[in-house]
Amino acid sequence: MVDSRKTLNPAVSRRTVFRGLAGFLAGSPLLHSQQDPFRDHSRVPALGEMLDAFDFEPVAHAKIARQAYDYMSWGVDGEFTMRRNREAFDWVGLVPRRIAGVGPVQAASNFLGMNLPFPMLIAPTARHVMFHPDAEAATHAGATAASNTPFIVSNAATFPVEKIAAAATGPWWFQLYPQPGPDYNRQTLEKAQAAGCRAIVVTVDQQASVYERSTHDQNLATAASPVPAPTSVGPRRRANPYRVPDGRLWYEWTLLDELRRVAKVPLVVKGIVTGEDARLCLEHGVDAIYLSNHGGRSLDYNPSTLEVLPEIADAIQGRVPILFDSGIRRGSDILKALALGASAVGLGRVPLWGLAAYGGQGVQKVLEILQAELLQAMAAAGRPTLASIDRTLVRTEFL
Ligand SMILES: Cc1cc2nc3c(=O)[nH]c(=O)nc-3n(C[C@H](O)[C@H](O)[C@H](O)COP(=O)(O)O)c2cc1C
Repeated sequence: MVDSRKTLNPAVSRRTVFRGLAGFLAGSPLLHSQQDPFRDHSRVPALGEMLDAFDFEPVAHAKIARQAYDYMSWGVDGEFTMRRNREAFDWVGLVPRRIAGVGPVQAASNFLGMNLPFPMLIAPTARHVMFHPDAEAATHAGATAASNTPFIVSNAATFPVEKIAAAATGPWWFQLYPQPGPDYNRQTLEKAQAAGCRAIVVTVDQQASVYERSTHDQNLATAASPVPAPTSVGPRRRANPYRVPDGRLWYEWTLLDELRRVAKVPLVVKGIVTGEDARLCLEHGVDAIYLSNHGGRSLDYNPSTLEVLPEIADAIQGRVPILFDSGIRRGSDILKALALGASAVGLGRVPLWGLAAYGGQGVQKVLEILQAELLQAMAAAGRPTLASIDRTLVRTEFL
């Protein structure tokens, strides 16, 4: 007699059932979003296949440690400001002029006495070794290869400034996180100037010191932060309950007068987001205002930088140039910022995607893509020079 249980169910063990279920779940599109974007490909795309800046991010994601990627992409709290920095570009329309001449489109300018082939710089970002072993040396080499783009070296860089300076011939600036008491600031700026920095950027906003819930909670409990400070930023003095790295925030406006005395090169203040503070900067002899909300990493529910750009431009009335960052990803973003009053823009995460994905060559390529996109956007808008770009080019939904 035939055993009907065997015919219908030939030796199905629990193990077979679980294996089948696991295979089904692994192949399910529901889980696809959790997976490595290159899972279905046998290779990482070649550098030449990168068409815009966004193409670099998944390559960076695939190549670096999860912790490094999280650190790079993180924004504070609910990331509202970080998202708004990007969304604000959607609220600015470009109104092209037609029959605007056939001369060459060119974007060179003079910025603080320096020749800028394109109105863009690499914004200061910390600890490039998390993204590539050649760290800031590779970033500087890539920036120099991309038409001598100036690189603003972070106070929290991995390598000493002398090593970064020696890596390439292009211009570089130095960014300082000021510390209480004049000695650290003076010594650090003297060292950077001796190594050849062409301008000094003083950052007066701050990155919230934690980017993971666990460390956040520990900081709220006033324990010392478990995130080690880079040695270049000076000694950590005490734990503090405010979620900002110790030593930052405790500034008076007289700090700028102090730094002014040490700076033999132009002094730029980074992190300004109101017209009133911009005016105060001018009173303290600053050479340029750097409008930034730290890429949404400082205080959530800050407005986007693009929204406050017209206010700052109105406050300054062209007396000093405005450097602008937070959210720039495309050439047309740069064009919009220029139209609303910026003289040049800083690129934060974009060159980091290039660095993490392809090292110095990635930095070069992503910069060249943005340069080409800017020229294309200027041509399409009928604004062939920087001087021809003004507010009549844009219609905003937030003014
Ligand atoms: C990973 C990372 C590290 C940063 N480190 C610094 C820093 O050391 N000093 C500083 O002034 N700003 C720092 N910033 C802020 C950038 O200079 C810049 O303001 C911001 O990245 C611009 O926003 P975006 O990345 O959306 O372009 C950092 C930003 C990121 C993403």
